[in-house]
Amino acid sequence: MKRIAVFVSGRGSNLIALNNAIKDGRLDAEIEIVISNKRKIGAIDYCELENIPHEIFKKKDYENREQMFDDIAELIDSLEIDLLVHAGFMLLTPDKFTEKYWGRMINIHPSLLPSFPGLHAQKQAFDAGVKITGCSVFFIDKGCDTGPIIIQKSVPVLENDTEDTVSARILKTEHDTLWRACKTVLSGNAKIEGKKVRILEDK
Ligand code: GRF
Repeated sequence: MKRIAVFVSGRGSNLIALNNAIKDGRLDAEIEIVISNKRKIGAIDYCELENIPHEIFKKKDYENREQMFDDIAELIDSLEIDLLVHAGFMLLTPDKFTEKYWGRMINIHPSLLPSFPGLHAQKQAFDAGVKITGCSVFFIDKGCDTGPIIIQKSVPVLENDTEDTVSARILKTEHDTLWRACKTVLSGNAKIEGKKVRILEDK
């Protein structure tokens, strides 16, 4: 069984969707640990409800970010994690951590990258007047939302949309995208070739 760690900082709807994919057999894996920098969030409430192991790491308990992520790495390694999944995790990882887990750490972002990286991607896209937006799952590199893209799904922006309605449509699409990306990566079918990811056929 493949072993996943999910990193969260918020409401946790992607965590829930991922766990549902595991529960109903779409994704053959186990969430070994949920890691967060916040305690009072929906994602952690969900872990408590579902008895998913979770650990909170707070920056204020450390001299610097690097030390905090050294501790996180120790935990990840002790659990023999195969895949690190950022699902609404709001901290950038230090270079040392990013390098260590290169090719094994992915993130989901609510836009069609490389358009609209960073915060408030849905608002950025809506304000720019795009007619199509969506979500992307990518391997995390040292930049902010710049890594090789594994999967993208598009979402239309309709005439009467508000930022909220289009955001909700993107989120729904995210929920059906993240588990697919996890499945592809865990089955060894996502081959990084420079800036690109080649998706291999299922054997
Ligand atoms: C999602 O839109 C994700 O793409 C972004 O942060 C949001 C997290 O939402 N990185 P949730 O906590 O999974 O509901």
